[in-house]
Amino acid sequence: MTKQIRQLTAVVTGQATSDGAGVKLKRIIHQQHQKAFDPFLLLDEFSSDNADDYIGGFPSHPHRGFETVTYMLEGAMLHRDHLGNEGHLRAGDVQWMTAAHGIIHSEMPEQENGLLRGFQLWINLPAAEKMKPPHYQDIAAADIPRLSLANGGTIKVIAGDYVSDTETITGAVHGVTTQPLYLDVSLSPQQQLNIPIATQQTVLVYVYEGVLAVGESADILTAGQLGQLQNGDTLQLATQQQAARFLVLAALPLNEPVVQSGPFVMNSDEEVEQAFRDYRNGVLTL
Ligand code: CO
Repeated sequence: MTKQIRQLTAVVTGQATSDGAGVKLKRIIHQQHQKAFDPFLLLDEFSSDNADDYIGGFPSHPHRGFETVTYMLEGAMLHRDHLGNEGHLRAGDVQWMTAAHGIIHSEMPEQENGLLRGFQLWINLPAAEKMKPPHYQDIAAADIPRLSLANGGTIKVIAGDYVSDTETITGAVHGVTTQPLYLDVSLSPQQQLNIPIATQQTVLVYVYEGVLAVGESADILTAGQLGQLQNGDTLQLATQQQAARFLVLAALPLNEPVVQSGPFVMNSDEEVEQAFRDYRNGVLTL
C-alpha cells in the first residue's frame, strides 16, 4: 500500500503570556484551537533563566475533566496534591496526571536560579471518564524509551508506540483512551524522519529549537511554531541546514462538545457550573 504523506494545514505561533503566580510562558494551544486540535486543549512552553519569570510557580489550584502532562527539559519542580502526594520533577521527567473527577494541586519551582524549561500539555478525556477517580503516572527520565537515529538525533517516546521500518518502541505511557503519541525528537541537519500515524489521529508538531520542514512540499516551521498535519498515514519530517528539536503530538479526536472555564473542561455549561460549586463546597475531589 502506498504511503500517503500528511500535509501542513495550519500553523500556530506561540504567544507570550503569564499564568499561575506570574509565571511567564508561551501559550501555543489555547481555547480557540480546541475544536480543530481535538482532543488537545492547551500547550504551554516555559523557558527562562531569570527566576523572576518563574519563582511564583503555580500555587494550589483545581482541575477536573482532563489530563495534564508536564514534561521538564531543564530545572526542577515540586508537585503536591490534596491527598498529600509529592513528586519531584527533574530534567527529562514526565508527570502524566489524569485529573478526571478532581485534583487540587500546586506546581512550584524547586530552584531559585538557573534555567527552568519544559512543557505542559492538556489532553481531554471522554465524557465517560471525566468523573472517574484521578490518578498519576510519574515517569523518571531514565524510564522514557529513547531511540538513537542512524545519522544523529534521538527520539524519546513519552507516550504511545513509535513504529519504524525495523522496530516498534513502546512508550512510557499507555492505556489512554485517546491513544496519545507524545514524542520528543531531536534531528541533526540534513536528516529525514518518516513516522507512520493512523489516519484518524489529530497530528500536531511543535518546533522548540531550529527549523523543520514538514510534508512533501517541505513547508517550514521555525522555533515557536506549531503545525497541524492532515490527510495521510505518514508524517514526513526533515531538517535542512539547521538542526531541530520538536514535539510530535497525536491522538484520537473525541468529537464531543468541549466547554472550558479556567481549570475545568467538561461537556456542558451545567457540568462546568457543577465543578465550580463542588470546588467551593470542598467536594471537587471526592
Ligand atoms: Co495544574
